[in-house]
Amino acid sequence: WPVYAPYVAAINRLKKPRNAVILAHNYQTPEIFHCVADIVGDSLQLAKEATKVDADIIVQCGVHFMAETSKLLNPHKTVLIPDMKAGCSLAESITGADVRLLRETYPGVPIVTYVNTSAEVKAESDICCTSANAVQIVESFGVDRVLCIPDEFLAQNVAAQTNVKVLAWKGHCEVHERFTADELLAYKAADPDIQIIAHPECPPDVVAVADFTGSTSGMINYVKDNRPAKVLLVTECSMASNIESEVPDVKFIKPCNLCPHMKRITLPNILESLVFMREEIHVDPLVAKRARLAVERMVNLKN
Ligand code: 13P
Ligand code: SF4
Repeated sequence: WPVYAPYVAAINRLKKPRNAVILAHNYQTPEIFHCVADIVGDSLQLAKEATKVDADIIVQCGVHFMAETSKLLNPHKTVLIPDMKAGCSLAESITGADVRLLRETYPGVPIVTYVNTSAEVKAESDICCTSANAVQIVESFGVDRVLCIPDEFLAQNVAAQTNVKVLAWKGHCEVHERFTADELLAYKAADPDIQIIAHPECPPDVVAVADFTGSTSGMINYVKDNRPAKVLLVTECSMASNIESEVPDVKFIKPCNLCPHMKRITLPNILESLVFMREEIHVDPLVAKRARLAVERMVNLKN
Protein backbone atom coordinates (compact mmCIF):
# COMPACT_ATOMS: atom_id res chain seq x y z
CA TRP A 1 0.00 0.00 0.00
CA PRO A 2 2.52 2.62 -1.13
CA VAL A 3 -0.06 5.42 -1.01
CA TYR A 4 -0.46 4.91 2.74
CA ALA A 5 3.24 4.56 3.58
CA PRO A 6 4.06 8.26 4.26
CA TYR A 7 1.03 8.59 6.57
CA VAL A 8 1.79 5.35 8.39
CA ALA A 9 5.42 6.40 8.91
CA ALA A 10 4.49 9.89 10.11
CA ILE A 11 1.80 8.62 12.51
CA ASN A 12 4.05 5.96 13.99
CA ARG A 13 6.91 8.47 14.32
CA LEU A 14 4.73 10.92 16.25
CA LYS A 15 3.30 8.44 18.75
CA LYS A 16 6.40 8.31 20.95
CA PRO A 17 7.10 12.06 21.33
CA ARG A 18 3.39 12.63 21.96
CA ASN A 19 3.26 9.67 24.38
CA ALA A 20 0.12 8.59 22.54
CA VAL A 21 -1.59 5.26 22.08
CA ILE A 22 -3.97 4.43 19.22
CA LEU A 23 -7.02 2.33 20.05
CA ALA A 24 -8.88 1.06 16.98
CA HIS A 25 -12.19 -0.76 16.61
CA ASN A 26 -12.46 -3.89 14.46
CA TYR A 27 -14.42 -1.86 11.84
CA GLN A 28 -11.51 0.44 11.06
CA THR A 29 -9.97 0.07 7.60
CA PRO A 30 -7.07 -2.39 7.18
CA GLU A 31 -4.40 0.32 6.89
CA ILE A 32 -5.49 1.68 10.29
CA PHE A 33 -6.13 -1.73 11.85
CA HIS A 34 -2.83 -3.29 10.74
CA CYS A 35 -0.41 -0.37 10.32
CA VAL A 36 -0.98 2.27 13.02
CA ALA A 37 -3.22 0.82 15.77
CA ASP A 38 -1.53 -0.19 19.03
CA ILE A 39 -4.60 -1.99 20.32
CA VAL A 40 -7.53 -3.35 18.29
CA GLY A 41 -10.71 -4.97 19.50
CA ASP A 42 -14.46 -4.92 20.00
CA SER A 43 -16.19 -2.33 22.18
CA LEU A 44 -15.72 -4.34 25.37
CA GLN A 45 -12.02 -5.00 24.75
CA LEU A 46 -11.41 -1.33 23.91
CA ALA A 47 -13.19 -0.21 27.10
CA LYS A 48 -11.15 -2.67 29.15
CA GLU A 49 -7.89 -1.66 27.46
CA ALA A 50 -8.74 2.00 28.07
CA THR A 51 -8.53 1.33 31.82
CA LYS A 52 -4.93 0.08 31.44
CA VAL A 53 -3.47 2.79 29.20
CA ASP A 54 -0.55 4.68 30.66
CA ALA A 55 0.11 7.00 27.74
CA ASP A 56 -0.87 10.68 28.12
CA ILE A 57 -2.94 10.72 24.97
CA ILE A 58 -5.46 8.26 23.57
CA VAL A 59 -6.35 8.56 19.89
CA GLN A 60 -9.60 6.68 19.42
CA CYS A 61 -10.10 5.31 15.94
CA GLY A 62 -13.77 4.46 16.06
CA VAL A 63 -16.97 6.37 16.66
CA HIS A 64 -17.76 9.10 19.17
CA PHE A 65 -19.30 6.92 21.88
CA MET A 66 -16.12 4.81 21.95
CA ALA A 67 -13.92 7.88 22.46
CA GLU A 68 -16.32 9.15 25.11
CA THR A 69 -16.13 5.80 26.93
CA SER A 70 -12.32 6.06 26.93
CA LYS A 71 -12.59 9.58 28.34
CA LEU A 72 -14.98 8.42 31.08
CA LEU A 73 -12.43 5.81 32.12
CA ASN A 74 -9.50 8.24 31.81
CA PRO A 75 -10.79 11.61 33.01
CA HIS A 76 -7.26 13.03 33.41
CA LYS A 77 -5.95 11.96 30.01
CA THR A 78 -6.38 13.66 26.67
CA VAL A 79 -8.70 11.63 24.45
CA LEU A 80 -8.75 12.57 20.77
CA ILE A 81 -11.03 11.46 17.96
CA PRO A 82 -9.86 12.26 14.43
CA ASP A 83 -13.39 13.26 13.33
CA MET A 84 -15.91 14.48 15.89
CA LYS A 85 -18.75 13.74 13.42
CA ALA A 86 -18.17 9.98 13.62
CA GLY A 87 -21.52 9.18 15.23
CA CYS A 88 -23.77 6.13 15.49
CA SER A 89 -27.46 5.65 14.68
CA LEU A 90 -27.96 3.79 17.97
CA ALA A 91 -26.41 6.58 20.03
CA GLU A 92 -28.63 9.07 18.16
CA SER A 93 -31.80 7.11 18.92
CA ILE A 94 -32.14 7.98 22.62
CA THR A 95 -31.54 10.87 25.05
CA GLY A 96 -31.06 11.16 28.78
CA ALA A 97 -34.62 12.55 29.06
CA ASP A 98 -35.95 9.41 27.33
CA VAL A 99 -34.19 7.23 29.92
CA ARG A 100 -35.59 9.30 32.81
CA LEU A 101 -39.07 8.77 31.36
CA LEU A 102 -38.44 5.02 31.09
CA ARG A 103 -37.41 4.98 34.75
CA GLU A 104 -40.66 6.68 35.73
CA THR A 105 -42.68 4.31 33.55
CA TYR A 106 -40.97 1.15 34.84
CA PRO A 107 -40.06 1.94 38.47
CA GLY A 108 -37.61 -0.55 39.96
CA VAL A 109 -36.78 -2.21 36.62
CA PRO A 110 -32.98 -2.17 36.08
CA ILE A 111 -31.79 -0.26 33.02
CA VAL A 112 -29.01 -1.91 31.01
CA THR A 113 -27.62 0.45 28.40
CA TYR A 114 -25.62 -0.59 25.38
CA VAL A 115 -22.27 1.24 25.20
CA ASN A 116 -23.40 2.63 21.84
CA THR A 117 -24.93 5.64 23.62
CA SER A 118 -23.95 9.12 24.80
CA ALA A 119 -22.48 9.75 28.26
CA GLU A 120 -25.74 11.53 29.13
CA VAL A 121 -27.69 8.30 28.49
CA LYS A 122 -25.13 6.17 30.35
CA ALA A 123 -25.43 8.54 33.32
CA GLU A 124 -29.13 7.67 33.65
CA SER A 125 -28.46 3.92 33.51
CA ASP A 126 -27.67 1.24 36.08
CA ILE A 127 -25.00 -0.50 34.03
CA CYS A 128 -23.65 -0.67 30.50
CA CYS A 129 -23.30 -3.71 28.29
CA THR A 130 -21.78 -4.55 24.92
CA SER A 131 -22.70 -7.23 22.40
CA ALA A 132 -20.07 -9.46 24.08
CA ASN A 133 -21.63 -9.50 27.55
CA ALA A 134 -25.28 -8.42 27.19
CA VAL A 135 -26.82 -11.75 28.30
CA GLN A 136 -24.51 -11.98 31.32
CA ILE A 137 -25.29 -8.37 32.34
CA VAL A 138 -29.06 -8.79 31.93
CA GLU A 139 -28.92 -11.91 34.13
CA SER A 140 -26.60 -10.30 36.72
CA PHE A 141 -29.50 -8.55 38.49
CA GLY A 142 -31.30 -11.78 39.36
CA VAL A 143 -34.69 -10.18 38.58
CA ASP A 144 -37.38 -11.22 36.10
CA ARG A 145 -37.59 -7.96 34.09
CA VAL A 146 -34.84 -5.73 32.70
CA LEU A 147 -34.82 -2.82 30.27
CA CYS A 148 -32.15 -3.26 27.60
CA ILE A 149 -31.75 -0.07 25.56
CA PRO A 150 -31.51 1.36 22.93
CA ASP A 151 -30.98 -1.48 20.39
CA GLU A 152 -34.30 -3.25 19.83
CA PHE A 153 -32.71 -6.14 17.93
CA LEU A 154 -29.94 -6.70 20.46
CA ALA A 155 -32.62 -6.77 23.19
CA GLN A 156 -34.69 -9.29 21.22
CA ASN A 157 -31.63 -11.44 20.53
CA VAL A 158 -30.69 -11.35 24.22
CA ALA A 159 -34.29 -12.23 25.17
CA ALA A 160 -33.99 -15.38 23.05
CA GLN A 161 -31.09 -16.56 25.24
CA THR A 162 -32.47 -15.93 28.72
CA ASN A 163 -35.55 -16.42 30.86
CA VAL A 164 -35.42 -12.78 31.92
CA LYS A 165 -38.11 -10.62 30.25
CA VAL A 166 -36.18 -8.03 28.25
CA LEU A 167 -37.93 -4.73 27.52
CA ALA A 168 -36.60 -2.88 24.47
CA TRP A 169 -36.32 0.59 22.92
CA LYS A 170 -36.79 1.26 19.20
CA GLY A 171 -33.18 2.07 18.24
CA HIS A 172 -31.48 0.28 15.35
CA CYS A 173 -28.03 0.09 13.84
CA GLU A 174 -28.30 1.52 10.33
CA VAL A 175 -25.69 -0.98 9.11
CA HIS A 176 -27.05 -4.22 10.57
CA GLU A 177 -30.76 -3.51 10.15
CA ARG A 178 -30.25 -3.68 6.36
CA PHE A 179 -29.47 -7.40 6.26
CA THR A 180 -32.43 -9.70 5.60
CA ALA A 181 -32.97 -13.38 6.32
CA ASP A 182 -34.13 -13.89 2.72
CA GLU A 183 -30.86 -12.67 1.20
CA LEU A 184 -28.84 -14.91 3.54
CA LEU A 185 -31.04 -17.93 2.84
CA ALA A 186 -30.50 -17.34 -0.88
CA TYR A 187 -26.70 -17.54 -0.35
CA LYS A 188 -27.13 -20.70 1.74
CA ALA A 189 -29.41 -22.26 -0.92
CA ALA A 190 -26.84 -21.54 -3.62
CA ASP A 191 -24.03 -23.01 -1.51
CA PRO A 192 -24.92 -24.97 1.67
CA ASP A 193 -21.23 -25.00 2.73
CA ILE A 194 -21.26 -21.27 3.45
CA GLN A 195 -21.18 -20.51 7.16
CA ILE A 196 -23.15 -17.45 8.20
CA ILE A 197 -21.84 -15.42 11.13
CA ALA A 198 -23.95 -12.51 12.32
CA HIS A 199 -23.58 -9.61 14.73
CA PRO A 200 -26.37 -9.42 17.36
CA GLU A 201 -27.38 -5.94 16.14
CA CYS A 202 -28.98 -7.78 13.19
CA PRO A 203 -32.74 -8.46 13.23
CA PRO A 204 -33.69 -11.70 15.04
CA ASP A 205 -34.76 -13.49 11.84
CA VAL A 206 -31.26 -12.84 10.45
CA VAL A 207 -29.66 -14.17 13.65
CA ALA A 208 -31.94 -17.22 13.41
CA VAL A 209 -30.37 -18.31 10.12
CA ALA A 210 -26.79 -17.72 11.34
CA ASP A 211 -24.45 -20.53 12.36
CA PHE A 212 -22.86 -18.27 14.97
CA THR A 213 -23.65 -14.88 16.53
CA GLY A 214 -21.19 -12.80 18.52
CA SER A 215 -19.48 -9.47 19.05
CA THR A 216 -17.06 -8.30 16.38
CA SER A 217 -14.13 -9.98 18.19
CA GLY A 218 -16.31 -13.04 18.85
CA MET A 219 -16.88 -13.28 15.09
CA ILE A 220 -13.16 -12.91 14.34
CA ASN A 221 -12.24 -15.58 16.89
CA TYR A 222 -14.89 -17.93 15.51
CA VAL A 223 -13.36 -17.68 12.03
CA LYS A 224 -9.80 -18.10 13.33
CA ASP A 225 -10.70 -21.09 15.51
CA ASN A 226 -13.07 -22.92 13.13
CA ARG A 227 -11.56 -22.06 9.71
CA PRO A 228 -14.77 -22.48 7.72
CA ALA A 229 -13.99 -22.95 4.00
CA LYS A 230 -16.48 -20.20 3.10
CA VAL A 231 -17.91 -17.61 5.42
CA LEU A 232 -20.33 -14.74 5.16
CA LEU A 233 -19.74 -12.13 7.87
CA VAL A 234 -23.07 -10.38 8.37
CA THR A 235 -21.60 -7.10 9.54
CA GLU A 236 -19.47 -4.10 8.53
CA CYS A 237 -17.23 -4.61 5.48
CA SER A 238 -13.84 -3.95 7.10
CA MET A 239 -14.18 -7.00 9.32
CA ALA A 240 -13.50 -9.40 6.45
CA SER A 241 -10.77 -7.16 5.00
CA ASN A 242 -9.00 -7.00 8.36
CA ILE A 243 -8.74 -10.73 8.94
CA GLU A 244 -8.44 -12.02 5.35
CA SER A 245 -4.64 -11.99 5.46
CA GLU A 246 -4.55 -13.96 8.75
CA VAL A 247 -6.79 -16.76 7.47
CA PRO A 248 -5.81 -17.25 3.80
CA ASP A 249 -7.60 -20.64 3.73
CA VAL A 250 -11.00 -18.98 4.38
CA LYS A 251 -13.02 -17.52 1.49
CA PHE A 252 -15.08 -14.48 2.48
CA ILE A 253 -18.39 -14.11 0.66
CA LYS A 254 -19.71 -10.55 0.50
CA PRO A 255 -22.36 -8.85 0.97
CA CYS A 256 -21.42 -6.56 3.75
CA ASN A 257 -22.52 -3.04 4.64
CA LEU A 258 -20.33 -0.02 5.31
CA CYS A 259 -20.66 2.07 8.46
CA PRO A 260 -20.31 5.66 7.20
CA HIS A 261 -19.43 6.85 10.70
CA MET A 262 -16.54 4.42 11.18
CA LYS A 263 -15.30 5.35 7.71
CA ARG A 264 -14.88 9.00 8.71
CA ILE A 265 -11.63 7.99 10.39
CA THR A 266 -8.74 8.00 7.93
CA LEU A 267 -4.94 8.01 8.02
CA PRO A 268 -4.79 11.74 7.10
CA ASN A 269 -7.14 12.76 9.92
CA ILE A 270 -5.34 10.49 12.43
CA LEU A 271 -2.12 12.29 11.50
CA GLU A 272 -3.81 15.68 11.89
CA SER A 273 -5.15 14.55 15.22
CA LEU A 274 -1.63 13.83 16.49
CA VAL A 275 -0.07 16.94 14.96
CA PHE A 276 -2.70 19.43 16.09
CA MET A 277 -4.02 17.53 19.15
CA ARG A 278 -7.58 17.53 17.89
CA GLU A 279 -10.45 16.82 18.28
CA GLU A 280 -10.53 16.56 22.02
CA ILE A 281 -13.36 14.78 23.85
CA HIS A 282 -14.83 16.66 26.82
CA VAL A 283 -17.60 15.36 29.06
CA ASP A 284 -19.43 17.47 31.64
CA PRO A 285 -17.88 16.38 34.98
CA LEU A 286 -21.24 15.78 36.69
CA VAL A 287 -22.50 13.65 33.79
CA ALA A 288 -19.14 11.89 33.57
CA LYS A 289 -19.19 10.91 37.24
CA ARG A 290 -22.51 9.06 36.88
CA ALA A 291 -21.79 7.65 33.41
CA ARG A 292 -18.41 6.32 34.61
CA LEU A 293 -20.15 4.28 37.30
CA ALA A 294 -22.31 2.52 34.69
CA VAL A 295 -19.27 1.70 32.53
CA GLU A 296 -17.13 0.63 35.49
CA ARG A 297 -19.86 -1.70 36.78
CA MET A 298 -19.71 -3.44 33.40
CA VAL A 299 -15.92 -3.54 33.16
CA ASN A 300 -15.60 -4.86 36.73
CA LEU A 301 -18.23 -7.59 36.35
CA LYS A 302 -16.53 -10.97 36.73
CA ASN A 303 -16.91 -13.49 33.89
P1 13P B 1 -18.83 -4.71 19.05
O1 13P B 1 -18.98 -4.31 20.48
O2 13P B 1 -19.29 -6.10 18.78
O3 13P B 1 -17.44 -4.44 18.58
O4 13P B 1 -19.83 -3.81 18.18
C1 13P B 1 -19.73 -2.43 18.10
C2 13P B 1 -20.53 -1.89 17.01
O5 13P B 1 -20.67 -0.72 16.87
C3 13P B 1 -21.15 -2.84 16.10
O6 13P B 1 -21.90 -2.18 15.15
FE1 SF4 C 1 -23.24 2.43 15.20
FE2 SF4 C 1 -24.01 0.51 13.54
FE3 SF4 C 1 -21.90 2.02 12.92
FE4 SF4 C 1 -21.75 0.20 14.92
S1 SF4 C 1 -22.04 -0.18 12.75
S2 SF4 C 1 -21.01 2.32 14.98
S3 SF4 C 1 -23.83 0.35 15.76
S4 SF4 C 1 -24.02 2.72 13.12
